[in-house]
Amino acid sequence: MLKLRFLLIGVVSVLVGLMVGCGDGSKSTGTGGAGATAGKVKIGFLVKQPEEPWFQNEWQFAQEAADKYGFDLIKIGAVDGEKVLAAIDNLAAQGAQGFIICTPDVRLGPAIVAKAKSANLKLFSVDDQFVGSDGKFMEVHHMGISAREIGHAMGKACWEEMQKRGWKQEEVGAISVCFDELDTARERNDGSTEELVKAGFAKERVYKAPVKTTDVPGAFDAANIVLTQHGDIKKWLVFGMNDEAVLGAVRALEGRSLGADDVIGVGIGGSTGMVDFKKEKPTGFFATVLISPRRHGFETAELMYKWIKDGVEPPKVTFTSGILITRQNYEKIMKEQGLLK
Ligand code: GLA
Repeated sequence: MLKLRFLLIGVVSVLVGLMVGCGDGSKSTGTGGAGATAGKVKIGFLVKQPEEPWFQNEWQFAQEAADKYGFDLIKIGAVDGEKVLAAIDNLAAQGAQGFIICTPDVRLGPAIVAKAKSANLKLFSVDDQFVGSDGKFMEVHHMGISAREIGHAMGKACWEEMQKRGWKQEEVGAISVCFDELDTARERNDGSTEELVKAGFAKERVYKAPVKTTDVPGAFDAANIVLTQHGDIKKWLVFGMNDEAVLGAVRALEGRSLGADDVIGVGIGGSTGMVDFKKEKPTGFFATVLISPRRHGFETAELMYKWIKDGVEPPKVTFTSGILITRQNYEKIMKEQGLLK
């Protein structure tokens, strides 16, 4: 009796297995991961900092692409290497055919590429470009921001506002809230410094504030160290890799009673910094270069979908641009960009 039962269970599982294997074969592209079930396209979207609004916005726009084209989007917060590798296994087991990733560490590039390959998953990096063991960018399809140019825009905005206010060079310092381990971050800050120095700002008055973590508390701590060392300076320019970097420094300056009149902070992003634009009174967060979570979220997901579905290979690399926004014009520009209703 027991034997018969096992036999029955065995037969049923084989049948189920066969059915799953056949699935809706007509729609299958045959490009699925190891455990793929044929049929619906499934795409993963892994981000390094799921708590950051930029990444939430990327997810939101990727979801719009999923709704438009009818694929499943699997959103995963992958905050360290272990999580990334486990997430890739998970995607393969769920039958995904590809994924987009902003990796928590660009040096994980070779491990991610190898894992994606063995799981037969298409791969697209967003925001932070993989670095190989030779220190060079890896050849993985990528969309990032034009970091140096956007950095230039950030520096230019600081300089022009400083001129408008008639600040004298001798009384002004600049805090560069930096994270030089990450190429796109270093390029942004270097671009800003380059532009300021080109315009006439003294290079030795640009003080680097290296962060341990790329968030508001990390920037707050880093800026406080610079401010403790240069307590004599009462007028500050602030720039950094994103809104969080600048907001952290702006909060540190407020802690020393330096506000909107004494601080010109310019960020990159256009998400987290909006909190300050919405405040009734201006803060030291003066402007930001608005970048496009729609392109980085919707477009990467769309490109991945078409790659899986129709075999259309995406462009190898795409660098997106930015637009300077201030509390005066942000609503208008964000509406025009489809980022505000
Ligand atoms: C990096 C930063 C994010 C955002 C993106 C834009 O990943 O950590 O805050 O600026 O770049 O590409």
